Amino acid sequence: MAHESGEPNESSRGRQRVFVVRRLPAAVEAVLVARYDAALNPTDESYPVDRLIDAAREFDAIVPTVVDNVPAAVFDVPARRARIVANYGVGFDRIDLDAARRNGVMVTNTPGVLTEDTADLAMMLIIAAARRASEGERQLRAGGWNGWRPTHLLGTRVNGATLGIVGFGRIGAAVARRAHRGFNMRVLFVNPRDPDPAAVAAAMAERCATIGELLAQSDVVSLHAPARDDTRGMIDARHFAMMRPGAILVNTARGDLVDEAALVRALETGTIAAAGLDVFEREPIVSDRLLALDNVVLLPHLGSATTSSRVAMGERMLANLDAFFRGLEPPDRIA
Ligand code: DGY
Repeated sequence: MAHESGEPNESSRGRQRVFVVRRLPAAVEAVLVARYDAALNPTDESYPVDRLIDAAREFDAIVPTVVDNVPAAVFDVPARRARIVANYGVGFDRIDLDAARRNGVMVTNTPGVLTEDTADLAMMLIIAAARRASEGERQLRAGGWNGWRPTHLLGTRVNGATLGIVGFGRIGAAVARRAHRGFNMRVLFVNPRDPDPAAVAAAMAERCATIGELLAQSDVVSLHAPARDDTRGMIDARHFAMMRPGAILVNTARGDLVDEAALVRALETGTIAAAGLDVFEREPIVSDRLLALDNVVLLPHLGSATTSSRVAMGERMLANLDAFFRGLEPPDRIA
């Protein structure tokens, strides 16, 4: 663990009190308890919102994760003590930033440190979905494999195929680079803002004017947009109809981006060939219809699940907390 920022100042009330919503890697928890009066969550149970509201009254900082809801009630609570919410993770779609701003509570996240691992996992889902890896493993484990045969579980070639990236930020660009350099793929993308020219050049990526243009040309579509009001349900039945027959959808971003019922229908009817999903509309609930399908690879939100990323996310969260309590601007302020 890096200890660059050193001991934060103690408040007049003694050590700063930090409420940690979920269990974190041991190395991160060790630093938290060394630097702060930290309440950890050893059972890793998911807390109800009331517990976070109480924590806002009793603690100087709250450390939620990307799956914990931090609604307005947490920020609006009378006699609030908490002055910072240091999110463990990049996505902040479950934190009410307007309420945070209204109440003068700072919010930070942990960008940059999970990019490569999440991009690796997206590549894994692209290949697993195209080559029917989960279907094959299920068949083998169930004793249903009776040997090599020329027509067994034929999939789709990834090498040289066209990949459409929706959202060309850090992770989208990292997937594009892998796809182009490692798998000789043609890369298309859509992005609301002008992308990093170096990232575009590294993947020889071509910008599409509309998502329809991208969908019509892509063999694989990989989603890398944030969940916001304007991106929720951005891939719906209309979009599946625009995709190529035989196309594959991969989502390692947020389940909310996709109308999941429409995705199920597209997979059931063969409108698209397959999907690889690491995120879901109602996590951790996965619909029975999705579970029943053979042409979808399902993972339990593992994008950043390496020890390297999860410890680095903790270091980043600590750097934000430490800066805040030393009266400095945290490096990853989002509100
Ligand atoms: C994030 O940080 O937003 C990721 O979803 C965690 O893997």
